Parts: sequence; structure tokens; C-alpha cells
Amino acid sequence: MDSPFETLGIDPDADEDELVDAYRRRVKSAHPDHGGSAEEFQAVRTAYEAIRVGYEPGDELEPVETDGRRPADEGASRNGQHDAGTARNGETGGDGTGAAGSDTGPDPEPEPERRGARVEFLDYDVLTDRGWSLADDDLFEKAAESGLDGDAYGEVVVEPRTNLLKAAEDAGHSWPFACRGGACANCAVAVVEGDVKMPSNHILSEEMLEQGVRLSCISLPVTDDLQVVYNIEHLPGLDELRLPPQHARKMSAGD
Ligand code: FES
Repeated sequence: MDSPFETLGIDPDADEDELVDAYRRRVKSAHPDHGGSAEEFQAVRTAYEAIRVGYEPGDELEPVETDGRRPADEGASRNGQHDAGTARNGETGGDGTGAAGSDTGPDPEPEPERRGARVEFLDYDVLTDRGWSLADDDLFEKAAESGLDGDAYGEVVVEPRTNLLKAAEDAGHSWPFACRGGACANCAVAVVEGDVKMPSNHILSEEMLEQGVRLSCISLPVTDDLQVVYNIEHLPGLDELRLPPQHARKMSAGD
């Protein structure tokens, strides 16, 4: 069985940028829509996730589920580290808090209780259909008065240590995604009001960040109230950063 490094075709000492580049290359060729298979696609994702959380030779590989989540996504990884680059870049994990998960050290200070953030969301398709713009000051006021269906416009509560994408999915919404690991722009959202933090960024330009573009799969609210427009991945500059979407609810290893 190939090691995760062999699966991605990188050296064990490859840095974070090389890892992301290799993943983006391999996940495209492995995708069933591009001549690969569900098994190969899953193997590439498993390799990528393993390296991100600090894979060492001899470690057991923990398969990534077809919806891109590992059991460890809900908390600390099998190594007691947090995901989304903790082991490789020393930053906070996929939950972005950098808090829970370490049981070392005496009597850690309990985290102050933080209530969930309220996120008002809007589908970019609505802007396209109605000729609205991300720059419209009254964008969300117009949305609130337009009788849009609950997938196009609504609210979700994002619990602490939960990213935007997961909160939306937990509330029954299907926002776009592919890698769930900060390596594509499929899950991009425009933060119109409020703010989020991402533990790392290897994809978005400074200009995009200044425009409020964030990756929902790794973004955690840092303000209590936010307004975000999702489904913006086809905007210029983001479209070329997309990966083949992962048909999480349609594709399985047995397909
Ligand atoms: Fe790829 Fe979020 S799904 S960065």
C-alpha cells in the first residue's frame, strides 16, 4: 500500500504549499468525472488528510468518509492534534480554536463559554437572477423582504468550534464544497457583515481577502452576527481555483 506521500507524489519533507499543490493536482486526476474512480478519489483525500494532521510512517490511515469528514473532524484527531494544518503549520486546527484537544499540562484554564454566532446567508444565484450586487448596502434587507425559499436565504446558528459549511449542512443546507481542507474555492463565501477567521490560507489572494472572500469549510465566526453570501465560486478569480465538486451524497466507494 502506498504511503500518503507516495499517493500524492510528494517528498515527506514537502512544505504546506507543496502539499496543497500536489493535492489539487491529484484530486483532479483521481476524480470519477476526470477518468479516476471513487476509490482513487477517496485514497487521495485520505492521504491529504493524514499528512495534514501529521502522518508519520507506520501510522494507520483513517479513511475519509465520502462527505469529506473524518470522525476526528468533530474534535481532536487520532494524534491528539487538531486538523486543518495543525501539525504542519503550527496554526489552529479545522475548528480554528486551537483550544480543546490537548490534555497535556496541569489544570488548563476552562474556555469561557461562547454562544453560537448567528449567520444570515444568501445564495449568490439570487443576486444573479435579480441583478443585485455584493456591494449593495441593502442586499440583505432586500433578501429578507423577497419571500425567498429557505435554501436561498435564511439563518443558521454556528456553534463554537464549528465552521460555516458544517453549520449550514447541520441545518440541512447543501452549500458547495470539494476538498473541505482549504485547497480549493468551491466553498467560498463573501462575508458582507461580521468576520470569520481561517487557520490558514493557501488559495485566496490578498485582494480576495480584502473583498471579504473566505473559505466556509475552514472559517469560524469571530463576531456574533454575520451576513454571508454563499455559492460564489463561479466569480472571476475563484472559478479557476475550483476543484471537481465532490458529489458527497451521490458518490460512494461502491459506485
Ligand atoms: Fe475546498 Fe473548502 S471545500 S477549501
